Amino acid sequence: MKSLQVNLPGREYRIDIGLNILEQLLPEVVRNNAVDQLVVVTNTTLQELYPEHISQILQNSEVKVSTCVLADGEGYKNLETLSKIYDFLLKVSANRKTLLLAFGGGVIGDMAGFAAATFMRGMPFIQIPTTLLADVDSSVGGKTAVNHPLGKNTIGAFKQPEYVCIELSFLKTLTSRELKAGFIELLKHGFIHDADLFESIQGKSLEPLDFVFLEEAIFRSCGIKGKVVEQDETETGIRATLNFGHTLGHLIETHAGYGKYLHGEAVGAGMCFAAFVSWRWQKLAEKDWQRIRVYLGQILTPLKLPPLSQEKFRDLILHDKKAQKQAVNFVLLKKLGESFIQQETSVDKLWDEFCEFSASYPEFIELELI
Ligand SMILES: NC(=O)c1ccc[n+]([C@@H]2O[C@H](COP(=O)([O-])OP(=O)(O)OC[C@H]3O[C@@H](n4cnc5c(N)ncnc54)[C@H](O)[C@@H]3O)[C@@H](O)[C@H]2O)c1
Ligand SMILES: [Zn+2]
Repeated sequence: MKSLQVNLPGREYRIDIGLNILEQLLPEVVRNNAVDQLVVVTNTTLQELYPEHISQILQNSEVKVSTCVLADGEGYKNLETLSKIYDFLLKVSANRKTLLLAFGGGVIGDMAGFAAATFMRGMPFIQIPTTLLADVDSSVGGKTAVNHPLGKNTIGAFKQPEYVCIELSFLKTLTSRELKAGFIELLKHGFIHDADLFESIQGKSLEPLDFVFLEEAIFRSCGIKGKVVEQDETETGIRATLNFGHTLGHLIETHAGYGKYLHGEAVGAGMCFAAFVSWRWQKLAEKDWQRIRVYLGQILTPLKLPPLSQEKFRDLILHDKKAQKQAVNFVLLKKLGESFIQQETSVDKLWDEFCEFSASYPEFIELELI
């Protein structure tokens, strides 16, 4: 097992990573949190795969446990589903001392976290991530949100968990597609902040699962994210580098329809585009761009998108049909392992690059430009 600590003023928390650790650690953590009641937020898929798993682990604890089971999928990450969590919390008479436990992937973590940030003006919550993507990224850092039809994650709050337990055995039931999508966010941390992490991933295949490799890679990934979050919790500066690949990634998710492509798949294409732009704008050396392109080309399959116009591209990036400004902060690479934020990047210039990118590399994105 490996552990690390995220140190935010007054809100430090521990992250434990390992195989078969949850059963021992969770009861201890719950005991130390002095709560009278615990509410598990999960979805139908996890409830089927691991029925009442958390309740069983806590059966000998004093705490009363109830489980709120939501529909599964990115398409349900919205205000309507969020209000089902509030309904459930009210039904079981939850209060500010009730502990909320997110048991699922990034969708469950983001929604349960937002509920924890807002119910009764805030209640404690812990994250038990069950996807590789949630292990390496979404369970750490305290960003919580739901989607709006006009934009991904547009309604949310910063809410740090009390504790994160990354139990690796849950990865055994993930599909290859989900594993790969999580691997993309792991790669992202290598691209933007840690060239050694990228090198250590080279030549590794995800399946069969290698838990020694995964424990180390997740530890490094959480370490990178944790350090960035410690410096800039609410994203006024360096934290924005974690959005590498996400400008186009979020556009793809919204434009294709939430749930059509996995978050990691969309971000993978977005990272390739951002690396392409970095090279075209002479920030990134050609050899680094080619390495990234070839590597991502081996992992990703083409995303097929509905026709896209320049106006729609702009609206989706700016999340606002009447936006006055025409620019975004866009994350570029300087080299493998080093990124920076290009403030006020013209959306029209990004569109020109997008036209070039999609015409040149249909192995990443197939679409008709209108
Ligand atoms: N808060 C953040 O900092 C942050 C960072 C990255 C991504 N995100 C968000 O995370 C979401 C994507 O997360 P995700 O990829 O985990 O998606 P997800 O939560 O939808 O999970 C993917 C699928 O795997 C299933 N699943 C979960 N655990 C499983 C298991 N152990 N075995 C079998 N199936 C399992 C889920 O039910 C779902 O169908 C997006 O909404 C994205 O915006 C948030
Ligand atoms: Zn992401």
